[in-house]
Amino acid sequence: MRRLAPVLREDGVELDLISLIRTILAACKDISFRVGQADLAGVLGSTLDENIQGETQKKLDVLSNQLLKDMLLESGFVRAIASEEEDFIVEGVHGGRFLVAFDPLDGSSNIDVNSLTGTIFSILPVPDEKLAGDAITESDFLQPGRNQVASGYVMYGPSTILALTTGKGVKFYTLDKTHGSFLLTQERIEVPEETQEFAINASNQHKWQIPMQRYIRDILDGKGGIRGKNFNMRWVACMVGDVYRILCRGGLFTYPAHTDDLSKPNKLRLLYEANPMGLLIEQAGGLVSTGEQNILDIQPTELHQRVPVILGSKQEVKICLDYHNQ
Ligand code: AHG
Ligand code: MN
Ligand code: MN
Ligand code: MN
Repeated sequence: MRRLAPVLREDGVELDLISLIRTILAACKDISFRVGQADLAGVLGSTLDENIQGETQKKLDVLSNQLLKDMLLESGFVRAIASEEEDFIVEGVHGGRFLVAFDPLDGSSNIDVNSLTGTIFSILPVPDEKLAGDAITESDFLQPGRNQVASGYVMYGPSTILALTTGKGVKFYTLDKTHGSFLLTQERIEVPEETQEFAINASNQHKWQIPMQRYIRDILDGKGGIRGKNFNMRWVACMVGDVYRILCRGGLFTYPAHTDDLSKPNKLRLLYEANPMGLLIEQAGGLVSTGEQNILDIQPTELHQRVPVILGSKQEVKICLDYHNQ
């Protein structure tokens, strides 16, 4: 089986970007080990702190963030980072030509129950006018998802799997823990266009807007209803896990807008959740939307901006969007 770096070289990826991706993966290997050690390493449970999203930080959220942050800022390739667990951007070195936004540990509520978690990353170019050396600001991260030069995630499950795109499709690599390398295990990921599987946190049903209420109601009617077929439902409570399943066998995943608290209608974050996952899904032939527009076309306005997310099998996402456009 082939190692990551030669595969990326063959895909025409520039050397600095390969080195940057390898730096991210070095941190992820460390996170993978600590997730596996769990109670043995004393990393389960919460801290007393909150992040800027108002979520209580788990010990592993903080630890994973620190590992990624330290390794990226020391790497020499990164001009600045943004993270779910950092209120503001953090500057790296002047020569760095990349910006990295990341969710150090996705699926935090799964940590203490030995269930799936992951690390999501998005790599953006430093804007041309800033290459000369002017200070990087938050606004430099506010680029549409289409600008990403690479995105991916590492999933910490029974095996540790990297899903990666550099704009030439999506590939899966599996961490061989016997010698610490990510080896190419699936070369051309394609999301089936049609599906009979969906993922939504159904406990929030009373908070959904009318179009989503109708879409899910029609799905639940099954074969005898307007959709004319039965559906299956899955919810991992870790976007990485749900997106992985969709990349493997199709499906529709959504975290829709909620109507109960209008100051906080959305959960998922654009820069380090929706955009990197959006690029992966689109590169695998799927579709990503807020219900109103393609996620990758959004001009971000805030670092920790949140958006509604509907993604997955093309035909099914289109059907869901039809309910929104009626
Ligand atoms: P994070 O753990 O990084 O804060 O993200 C959690 C996200 C995402 O992974 C998942 O799809 C969703 O929150 C789960 O939400 P529920 O708690 O509503 O199931
Ligand atoms: Mn969180
Ligand atoms: Mn997350
Ligand atoms: Mn997280």
